[in-house]
Amino acid sequence: MTAETFKIAALAGDGIGPEVMREAVKVLRAAERKFGFALDLTEAPVGWAGIDAAGRALPDATLALCRASDAILFGSVGLPDRDPTIPKEERPERAALLRLRKEFGLFANLRPVLLWKELAHACPLAKERQGQGIDILVVRELTGGMYFGQPKRTEDLGHGQRRAIDTMVYTTAEIERIAHVAFRAAGKRAQSGGRPRGKVTSIDKANVLENGVLWREVVTRVGQQYPDVTLEHMFVDNAAMQLMLRPTQFDVLLCENLFGDILSDEAAALAGSLGLLPSASLGASAGGRTFGFYEPAGGTAPDIAGKNLANPIAQILSAALLLLYSCNRPDAHHAIVQAVGKAIAAGHRTGDIFAPNEPGVRRVGTREMGNAIASFV
Ligand code: IPM
Ligand code: MG
Repeated sequence: MTAETFKIAALAGDGIGPEVMREAVKVLRAAERKFGFALDLTEAPVGWAGIDAAGRALPDATLALCRASDAILFGSVGLPDRDPTIPKEERPERAALLRLRKEFGLFANLRPVLLWKELAHACPLAKERQGQGIDILVVRELTGGMYFGQPKRTEDLGHGQRRAIDTMVYTTAEIERIAHVAFRAAGKRAQSGGRPRGKVTSIDKANVLENGVLWREVVTRVGQQYPDVTLEHMFVDNAAMQLMLRPTQFDVLLCENLFGDILSDEAAALAGSLGLLPSASLGASAGGRTFGFYEPAGGTAPDIAGKNLANPIAQILSAALLLLYSCNRPDAHHAIVQAVGKAIAAGHRTGDIFAPNEPGVRRVGTREMGNAIASFV
């Protein structure tokens, strides 16, 4: 019998992208050997690497490869200091990342935030440093709201005055489909045990924004279809504060695009390092397979790029999410998450999670961390 084959587009991008991607591929290969599926993995340039190779942040050949693939494993794009004269529409963030999200209808962005108990010291909050677990799933709507709403432009008003317009737009259908994702995820997490679970906290600004009123109304209605999941609503400003005061109250955070962008960075800080957090961006499933886009939550980190310093865990866990959602291999996903846990328990620390006074730990580079994780798969 031939092994089940999955076609993966690996787009490493800029900054630390290529070096963390290398480690993720190493770990994927280890999982492939252990679990007996086959990954047909093809690399292609994106971001500034795409501009350098083919004159565009998302070269046609790269887009064609993505279309022919089951999933995209993405590194990161954007180098703020490179060529400020390039038009904003052509910059990698918009021309590659946002374009891919829209092109593939990736409306559901899942960002699991987990504070590993061995890394509790890296959490900025005192109580959590003493070992209270943080385990939050941010479900962020990714193809609507202010990122894509029209009109979106800058107008010249004369007399040296200009006016910038961004528009927040959501339809009932867009809110419904992301709400279903959040409630289903909360239901699944409830079954997986642990502390009290099965709660969705829906974030909005219903006291001010029309969008917030509609959001709350639609989420409440969808929630009635999930009697086992508790629903609460929270204003976004309060949520930003509650995340700092008592993060353990949260299970699933359901957010529109911009609020989710902001709160997911805030939640990420609680885990100790942006270098630990993966993400999955999913569209509607078709024919039993879910096309997905998997990327670390952090950026290109140009200051440490090419120095074997970056933490590859976010990229490796993103690859694990790819196996879970797009390849339907929970076994391989679980093995990689366990392997990361073992590497951390064995004392391997990249600089971002290294504390010199922690006993039994060793500062390692990107490559050594990748090797350790691959060996534990
Ligand atoms: C993210 C990033 C992107 C976003 C940027 C790079 C366009 O911050 O994925 O959270 O704002 O969505
Ligand atoms: Mg962001």
